[in-house]
Amino acid sequence: MFRIPQLTARVSRMASLRAAMPRAFSTSPVSMANGKVLLVLYEGGKHAKEQKRLLAGIENELGIRKYIESNGYELVSTTDKDPEPSSTVDKHLKDAEVVITTPFYPAYITKSRIANAPNLKLAVTAGVGSDHVDLNAANERKITVAEVTGSNVVSVAEHVLATILVLVRNYNGGHKQAVGGEWDIAGVAKNEYDLEDKVVSTVGAGRIGYRVLERLIAFNPKKLLYYDYQDLPPEAIKRLNDASKLFNGKDNIVQRVEKLEDMVSQSDVVTINAPLHEGTRGLFNKEMISHMKEGAYLVNTARGAICVAEDVAEAVKSGKLAGYGGDVWDQQPAPRDHPWRSMDNKDQTGNAMTVHISGTSLDAQQRYAEGVRNILESYFSKKFDYRPQDVIVKDGEYATKAYGQRK
Ligand code: NAI
Repeated sequence: MFRIPQLTARVSRMASLRAAMPRAFSTSPVSMANGKVLLVLYEGGKHAKEQKRLLAGIENELGIRKYIESNGYELVSTTDKDPEPSSTVDKHLKDAEVVITTPFYPAYITKSRIANAPNLKLAVTAGVGSDHVDLNAANERKITVAEVTGSNVVSVAEHVLATILVLVRNYNGGHKQAVGGEWDIAGVAKNEYDLEDKVVSTVGAGRIGYRVLERLIAFNPKKLLYYDYQDLPPEAIKRLNDASKLFNGKDNIVQRVEKLEDMVSQSDVVTINAPLHEGTRGLFNKEMISHMKEGAYLVNTARGAICVAEDVAEAVKSGKLAGYGGDVWDQQPAPRDHPWRSMDNKDQTGNAMTVHISGTSLDAQQRYAEGVRNILESYFSKKFDYRPQDVIVKDGEYATKAYGQRK
């Protein structure tokens, strides 16, 4: 019988790896009729008090506690995700039916965690990008993995443009002088260019990659190139070419390139907008970077592990890359000594990294919180009528074509 949930447990324990106190909340009776939902989010702390729209902070729990409990499920929410196997996530995954986690502060749902979660049926990504779940292991166990497709693609595309401009315009150099009391114009200008008339390319031309191309038209590029095993529809290319013709007087600026090495060797700026999977892990290593133009820029807001961290840092240090920027790291939170924190060139103009923020703007949070609720609705109702574009793996198979070319 469903009972009104009451406050029954509030657990807090010391984390060995995090300065902040990780927390786990369950306000539901231990024996809710239907099962357990585990929600893993980042700490909002004082910021959650200051900003009520911070839905993805643990304090606000995506605004879905009441909804989950009204469906007779227990909700346990926690920030304590590492290390495996001694975290709160491990403790509660053992009997959870649903896990919800974000790419920004990912609970890695590894093969071993899946093996220790016999009841797990659904893994929901609050956002876009489900590589933090071992998708092959999920398939073996027929666990459904779903994400809120499209929820933050504009947010990321805007961040990509911002990062490109920070690097190409040498914003960091100018800003450092402005707040540091200096006025050495030449010291900044010697590393500052216009984006206009440059060749810009994207690895992956899906929802984000396409939006990046769209936004680039406003900067009057020389050419826009893309590399993807899925073709852009002709009408999508026509839209970009028409806009370029209208605003810049240039026709046919969008081209697909068959070989990645050929694309990067022509590009002044390369942006990565493909998911992390077996075919993209470590794709931008020393070898691939060696095909890039001297002094090109590389921007990656897709996933950190698509680039080899040490190889990128070395290329920035040597000047092979004029700069690298993005918000995604191969391990999140990134350790204090991660090479991308200290990576730079001699003029300190080559690092445009941020923590993983591009897809978690307040506007995006609103959209993915709503999307998570819709996915849960499909699950709780037992209709399983998810939006097809949200489903990554289901019934033991990949439902999307975006995670690599498969039979
Ligand atoms: P999407 O599924 O719409 O597009 C991905 C495209 O990448 C597809 O067209 C696919 O064919 C292509 N692709 C896959 N493997 C490729 C390869 N080896 N080479 C070239 N292209 C390849 O996905 P969407 O929405 O554009 O997101 C892309 C990725 O961006 C996500 O998977 C996620 O990892 C990342 N992302 C990052 C966010 C952030 O906050 N930094 C937020 C949202 C997404």
